[in-house]
Amino acid sequence: MSSNKINIAIDGFSSCGKSTLAQAIARELNYLYVDSGAMYRAVTFYALEHGYIHTNGSIDHGLLLESLDLILVQFKYNSSNQEIEIHLNGTCVNKEIRGMQVSAHVSAISAIPEVRKKLVRLQQRLAENGGTVMDGRDIGTVVLPNAEVKIFMTASPHVRAERRHKQLLLNGVHSSFEEVNANLSQRDLMDTTRVADPLVQAPDALVLDNTYLTEEEQFSFVLLHARKAIQSKVSATTE
Ligand code: DC
Repeated sequence: MSSNKINIAIDGFSSCGKSTLAQAIARELNYLYVDSGAMYRAVTFYALEHGYIHTNGSIDHGLLLESLDLILVQFKYNSSNQEIEIHLNGTCVNKEIRGMQVSAHVSAISAIPEVRKKLVRLQQRLAENGGTVMDGRDIGTVVLPNAEVKIFMTASPHVRAERRHKQLLLNGVHSSFEEVNANLSQRDLMDTTRVADPLVQAPDALVLDNTYLTEEEQFSFVLLHARKAIQSKVSATTE
């Protein structure tokens, strides 16, 4: 076990810039970045592909639960573009999981306790030796309650919708601002009110409202706290 490595949990609302920040911190510390939202998206993509989500939005829970053991979600490093990719049963689905179809149903899929149980276990395994920066909704509260650094990110809903709209356009996904805004509000509501592991701020999390902050300011804030936590861990192990 690499004892001086800590875990950093970054939770918050959709489109707060969690993944950009988490990736930058992971790169700086040479840690593993784990995008837990991508895992819920991959399961949602699987359910869509297999027809377990009907056109009216209802989910065939029975069939999905029966298939859970057949769903293999993995992160793989692509050395040609130096990116971590998410693979579903051996196929890279990085692009597929970002579309509006998946976004429209992922909150409902991620509210299913059995889906959460499977993915939480996987996330905990990825972080068991420390050295991860993991972003999501329940990382500091459920997945890694002992994470040495916990960040709770937020930003105004309008700014978040603008950022998401821009990001989708950059990824070649064309949707109107209104559509993106409505999807975000819907996801905020579902993520914060679901029964299983809702999005809540951990009592020991540091709040980072980035409505008016640059990426550099956010990066410095988290890095400062991360370095302090690493230092305390080093001191504790050498005492
Ligand atoms: O971070 P994201 O927008 O890609 O996440 C997609 C959805 O997955 C989001 O609506 C809530 C859910 N999610 C979750 O329930 N728990 C997590 N740890 C991460 C994401």
